[in-house]
Amino acid sequence: MLDVGVESQVSKSARPGDPLQSSRNGFRRAHVAVIERAEKLSAHIEVIPARPEQEPILANLLELYAHDFSEFLDLEPGADGRFGYTCLPLYWSEPGRHPFLFWVDGKLAGLTLVKRGSEVSGDETVWDVAEFFVLRGYRRCGIGTQVAHEVWRRFPGMWEVRVMESNIAARDFWAHSISTLTGEAIRPVRVEKDGKWWTVFSFESKQV
Ligand SMILES: CC(C)(COP(=O)(O)OP(=O)(O)OC[C@H]1O[C@@H](n2cnc3c(N)ncnc32)[C@H](O)[C@@H]1OP(=O)(O)O)[C@@H](O)C(=O)NCCC(=O)NCCS
Repeated sequence: MLDVGVESQVSKSARPGDPLQSSRNGFRRAHVAVIERAEKLSAHIEVIPARPEQEPILANLLELYAHDFSEFLDLEPGADGRFGYTCLPLYWSEPGRHPFLFWVDGKLAGLTLVKRGSEVSGDETVWDVAEFFVLRGYRRCGIGTQVAHEVWRRFPGMWEVRVMESNIAARDFWAHSISTLTGEAIRPVRVEKDGKWWTVFSFESKQV
């Protein structure tokens, strides 16, 4: 948690434009961030299959996810202010689709949707990460990596992860999370689909 008390005391005693004070504030903020990160790393993470009645929770998170993605994709909300995710109900009606929510110390922290079938080759045996989203407040604490590992271990076999080339942060995240699962660096391939370039990682999640 951010120590609001400390932060506000510091800013009260600071003289405007005092470089020493501002570097102390910067150090204090960095220190708080390190503590927060360590707390989140040791937090209790639960990755739980989402039940049909939780569909509205996923729909809400997918709005935030789509908003993040509107930085890279030509996505626009409808007149109702929502981006929408039309195939969400299929996650409870079609076999081979698995929706998950994840929770950190009992608090909602993100979602992932996984499904059977490669979007690249059409191979029906390959597992595909359709969507993966960590709420901003939980990022860069290793949570995404832990969640991805847990999901991959639940479904051993060949996996594919597709990421838009413009989404550099996600590309680095997948390179990190896959290599820490498999123990080796996976060389992704570039694939063009509908005029857009994607980076595709293929790897095997082994039965443990
Ligand atoms: C990409 C995303 C899932 C990463 O989740 P996360 O929980 O923050 O990831 P982790 O903390 O496990 O990161 C592990 C490593 O991945 C890399 N990484 C993660 N986010 C990164 C970023 N923004 N920039 C550069 N590298 C990043 C780093 O190597 C990081 O290790 P480090 O923090 O020790 O440097 C999250 O930022 C997100 O939900 N983004 C929006 C949705 C999205 O792009 N999803 C992927 C769709 S393909």
